Amino acid sequence: MTVHFIGAGPGAADLLTLRGRDLIAGCPVCLYAGSLVPEAVLAHCPENARIVNTAPLSLDQIMAEIVAAEEAGQDVARLHSGDLSVWSAMGEQLRRLRALGIGYTVTPGVPSFAAAAAALGAELTLPGVAQSVVLTRTPGRASAMPKGETLAAFAGTGATLAVHLSIQTLGQVTRDLIPHYGPDCPVAVVWRASWPDQRIVRGVLEDIEGRVDGSMERTALILVGPALAAEGFEESCLYASDYDRRFRPQTADSVYRDSRE
Ligand SMILES: C[S@@+](CC[C@H](N)C(=O)[O-])C[C@H]1O[C@@H](n2cnc3c(N)ncnc32)[C@H](O)[C@@H]1O
Repeated sequence: MTVHFIGAGPGAADLLTLRGRDLIAGCPVCLYAGSLVPEAVLAHCPENARIVNTAPLSLDQIMAEIVAAEEAGQDVARLHSGDLSVWSAMGEQLRRLRALGIGYTVTPGVPSFAAAAAALGAELTLPGVAQSVVLTRTPGRASAMPKGETLAAFAGTGATLAVHLSIQTLGQVTRDLIPHYGPDCPVAVVWRASWPDQRIVRGVLEDIEGRVDGSMERTALILVGPALAAEGFEESCLYASDYDRRFRPQTADSVYRDSRE
């Protein structure tokens, strides 16, 4: 018996990996984090599958479901939104599974920051503008931030920020960031990226709060940084016609000439 953790993607039912789809189809039990996982993904469950929304359950109750499936010899598909590597609560479940000696696999999903960037048609790392993306959040009722992980500290790098779980404190986010990025720094708020009712609001740090109305709550990402509106950036060296590289040696004596085998 195996528990298959599967990243269910950002919302659109077809932004699920083929591996994830096939695993869901092969598991007689499906536990899904119903607050964000789209119901359409559940259509891949086999007929008569036991499908449980874990949103109202405690960790102990979720583990009880898994243990019951193990006793019945039934594989479990465990779905979380986006990708599992960030804010999925997978870590604590894996720790319990290891303690119980229950096997598991992990299948990645499309993270919401990537879906939001796609909705914007934006590359978040532009040459000479930003070469790092910080996936972060602000403190919540259930989650304090470790010391040092402040917006100001990340902003000090000038990287593109993808601020999760923070739309309810948008005003505070902008106040924290303006001293570092300046009031004119581009911002985009993407609400329900990839869902049919997706909405995008663009602005700058000093006006974005006034542009976002209260209906865009919960499932929204705040993307901040000069890369969001840059036009005058350099082209990357990698594709420059005179750039000598392994896959495109430029001269007869290039060090890459015979290194392709
Ligand atoms: C509990 S975290 C889950 C993150 C998820 N594991 C991922 O890979 O993106 C939930 C937060 O992710 C962001 N989020 C998740 N899905 C989103 C979407 N479709 N559009 C915009 N933001 C989304 C929001 O900031 C939301 O508050």
